[in-house]
Amino acid sequence: MPDRCGFRRSETQGLVLFVTTYQGGVLLADWETHNPSGSKRVVCTKQLPGTRWLDVLAAADCSVEVGTSTDILSVDEIKAKIGDHCDGVIGQLTEDWGEELFSALKAAGGKVYANYAVGYNNVDVESATRHGLPVGNTPGVLTETTAEMAVTLTFSAARRVAEADVYMRGGEYKGWLPTLFLGELMTRKTVGVIGAGRIGAAYAKMMVEGFKMNFLYYDLYQNKGLEDYLTAYGEFLKSQGEEPISWRKCDTTEEVLRESDVVSLHPVLDETTHNLMNTERLGLMKDNAVLINASRGPVIDEAALVEHCKTHENFRVGLDVFEDEPAMKPGLADLPNVVIVPHIASATIWTRSGMASLAAGNVAGILSGYPCWQDQNDVLPFLEGENPKAAPSIVNRDELSLPAHSG
Ligand code: DGY
Repeated sequence: MPDRCGFRRSETQGLVLFVTTYQGGVLLADWETHNPSGSKRVVCTKQLPGTRWLDVLAAADCSVEVGTSTDILSVDEIKAKIGDHCDGVIGQLTEDWGEELFSALKAAGGKVYANYAVGYNNVDVESATRHGLPVGNTPGVLTETTAEMAVTLTFSAARRVAEADVYMRGGEYKGWLPTLFLGELMTRKTVGVIGAGRIGAAYAKMMVEGFKMNFLYYDLYQNKGLEDYLTAYGEFLKSQGEEPISWRKCDTTEEVLRESDVVSLHPVLDETTHNLMNTERLGLMKDNAVLINASRGPVIDEAALVEHCKTHENFRVGLDVFEDEPAMKPGLADLPNVVIVPHIASATIWTRSGMASLAAGNVAGILSGYPCWQDQNDVLPFLEGENPKAAPSIVNRDELSLPAHSG
């Protein structure tokens, strides 16, 4: 079947060229092209929020082919789209960016791959590095947004919001009752965090400051900034005549699990954290504790979690991510004590548009021959106005000995 193309009117971009691509008669996906006269060819496998990212790429003389299908693209489909010539790709965390795609991108003359996510466990960075390909990610714009969702899930689970919503919609509410949907109070209890990096620390501050909770954390690294902040907050409470909060860095994950009333998981997913929350560790938690995961699904052994929730009805869980995403393990969706949302922790307009600007900045920066931005935690200059002459966040810049921006 031949490819089909034409023009479509877009609310934000005016007329855009669209192409429906077939390979061997099989529909690959719909694509629309922005700035078709650009001399560098960039593929973006999904539509991204906002328009700034397209302006950044247009300013770097790129034409951008954007996948309009909401289906997750396979490696073969992406390879076919890369084709014989492609300068750079913006891809998704749902795609398997390994040897096959990096060798295809390199063979097509590719110079950069940007992951539209801060996490890059879907990317074989070593393979990209072997091919000399810089890999970009999008730090610094997801922190508070993701932490806010972890807080949202905490209280949705602790206060049984999803169960109560279903009850109301089902017309079951017959009037106020002293015993209806009793949940757990969080104020002045203990919050635990596994992985106190950017997002874990932001969640900790929100919970400690908002609800005067004591704090425990486990991380391979000390978060001195967070510790100092919480000590100062405790002093502030004292100065107001209130009981200060306490905090402690624990020697083990187990210590955090045993003592906390709510535990939020924020580690990087690797072989040491894969199925970190298994039957044994779940068994260490208090019977009425709350467990939150807005990191990566495989950090929890989901089948073990289903069994644990079945036998511990006061144990509550909030999940943004799943072990075999988008699938859920059998039984999970039937559990009233679990709140589930579809990997939307970073889904605010500001964050997702910011991620798009950063992904585009990574591609445009490398294709323009610019150095790497010096501080990946301070990427605000890439979110409005003219971009600095740099790539905001390249994760393998040291391995590739890429120059650093000096400004
Ligand atoms: C990321 O960027 O890693 C997030 O999971 C997207 O929400």
